[in-house]
Amino acid sequence: MKFFIDTANLDQIREAQALGVLDGVTTNPSLMAKEGITGRNNILKHYVDICNIVEGDVSAEVIGTEFKAMIKEGEELAELHEQIVVKVPMIKDGVKALKYFTDKGIRTNCTLVFSPGQALLAAKAGATYVSPFIGRLDDISTDGLNLIAEIRLIYDNYAFETQILAASVRHTMHIIDCAKLGADVMTGPLSAIEGLLKHPLTDSGLAQFLADYKKGN
Ligand code: G3P
Repeated sequence: MKFFIDTANLDQIREAQALGVLDGVTTNPSLMAKEGITGRNNILKHYVDICNIVEGDVSAEVIGTEFKAMIKEGEELAELHEQIVVKVPMIKDGVKALKYFTDKGIRTNCTLVFSPGQALLAAKAGATYVSPFIGRLDDISTDGLNLIAEIRLIYDNYAFETQILAASVRHTMHIIDCAKLGADVMTGPLSAIEGLLKHPLTDSGLAQFLADYKKGN
């Protein structure tokens, strides 16, 4: 299972990278705005800065919603750095853009996916990654994890190579449940990744080991 961090915050990306388990980064326009990164040139520079911190894939989202605008923007993003994956929303022109990028060998991440049908379309169009937003489904009393299971079943039925990138992961249990269900990738906040570390028996066991060591030395 690949671990991506879902942020545009460079300090958090560095911290996750230093942990040694990071496989990539996902961003979106809201995460960029949260870091105060505005204006096309600053945003493009920020993507390059992120690529220079991590070794894996970095998703960069197109803003255009019409085919021609998406193509122009996506090609510009893909040229920025070899690690860039062009993030395209699941809308009609987005599906056309996914197919166009697939045919050109440009890797893609189909975002804002909330149903098995959308995920099927993304795979048919050749998306490298599909991003079902599990947290946002949970927010509206719909089981986000069930969507991961449904997409896994469909993709396995037909051996689709599109990787399931569980997005809108909010906490540690989301990561564990996605791993059980066979998501290829999860993207979440640093807190959710670091939450995997924690167990009170680890803390008390270590404290006991250190205390016993001190007694004999
Ligand atoms: O990768 C998608 C993610 O950024 C959405 O997360 O927490 O805003 O639903 P959230």
